[in-house]
Amino acid sequence: MENDRVENDRVEDDEVPERPAGAGRGRRAFFGLAAAAAGAAGLAGAVVIPPYLTDPPTSAPAPASPRGRFAGKVVLITGATSGIGEATARAFAAEGAKVGFCGRRAELGRRVEQDIREAGGTARYQQADVRDPDQLRRFVDETAAAFGRLDIAFNNAGITRTAPLHEMSLDDWTDVHHTNTRGVFLSIQYEVPHMLENGGVIICTASESRRPGGAAYTSSKQAIKGIVETAAMDYGPKGIRINAISPGTTDTALVRPASLPDAIWEAFKRAWGPLNAPGTHRMAMPEEIARSVVSLASAEFAYMAGSTVLVGGGPLGGGPMRMPPGFPSGR
Ligand SMILES: NC(=O)c1ccc[n+]([C@@H]2O[C@H](COP(=O)([O-])OP(=O)(O)OC[C@H]3O[C@@H](n4cnc5c(N)ncnc54)[C@H](OP(=O)(O)O)[C@@H]3O)[C@@H](O)[C@H]2O)c1
Repeated sequence: MENDRVENDRVEDDEVPERPAGAGRGRRAFFGLAAAAAGAAGLAGAVVIPPYLTDPPTSAPAPASPRGRFAGKVVLITGATSGIGEATARAFAAEGAKVGFCGRRAELGRRVEQDIREAGGTARYQQADVRDPDQLRRFVDETAAAFGRLDIAFNNAGITRTAPLHEMSLDDWTDVHHTNTRGVFLSIQYEVPHMLENGGVIICTASESRRPGGAAYTSSKQAIKGIVETAAMDYGPKGIRINAISPGTTDTALVRPASLPDAIWEAFKRAWGPLNAPGTHRMAMPEEIARSVVSLASAEFAYMAGSTVLVGGGPLGGGPMRMPPGFPSGR
């Protein structure tokens, strides 16, 4: 570092050294070797210089992007008729992206689309079920065609079914896995061809949930971590960055019993927080998870690939949820 200060004239206090002390000599030695090899090649005329010594880097580091970051970008989201997907569609649109999203409930999809447009954003809803390969492929292809490209995909559609394995029907197991896991596989399969030319970012929704009766859901979500770890190696070198996000328990229809009145739900959440989210003492709001997804898609995370990021309210121990006194015990 001291040598760097002298050689480079000036190194800002908060500047991260490009390489450890002494590495500069190594780099000069590296180029010296290349020069020597080139000279030797010129002399001998027969020595082949390995391309890694002379090729330029495969990609330049991406510049950090300011806020209002996604103007001109096209974002696709599966499962954005409610919850985390809906909040993420709104968040991307607010940052200037053109957002194409799907879900099965057309009425909700149209409402989200209209809300985004009324707020000055660009959105396109298409009814599609991620369990149906034809519908999913049409959604991906027609989104890319409508907006002229595809830059970012958030593969988020998901469901849960809870039962101990010996009581779980094959239909329920298949439904969970075809939605959560096969849906992600097919989404990536259809999205990648649209990204090969210009590069892209793919984020999938995993989960760290481990609850009694949750074998179908947990296995489907843990599989997503394996998909992104391996797919990142296939497509990272082609300019497509693939990661997953694991939200902590988030206040959406996935966790809230449909019939519960607002006041009871709010009271439940207040009591639930300290028992189950030791780092925050509260459930996440979908808008908070959405902001994390938007950040992960930005150039701030240009070096992250094959990772699953936990955005949770503290260490998750698994096991049953701790239910506040007076509330029925949950799984
Ligand atoms: N909430 C949590 O605590 C939590 C924690 C970790 C992970 N997650 C994951 O986060 C994701 C979003 O869930 P959420 O919490 O926001 O719940 P949500 O409000 O129920 O959202 C689920 C979304 O997925 C869509 N979807 C479900 N099945 C689909 C299918 N076959 N085809 C197309 N879209 C489908 C739903 O739309 P339609 O019903 O209109 O089809 C809806 O838009 C899920 O993958 C979930 O597993 C949630």
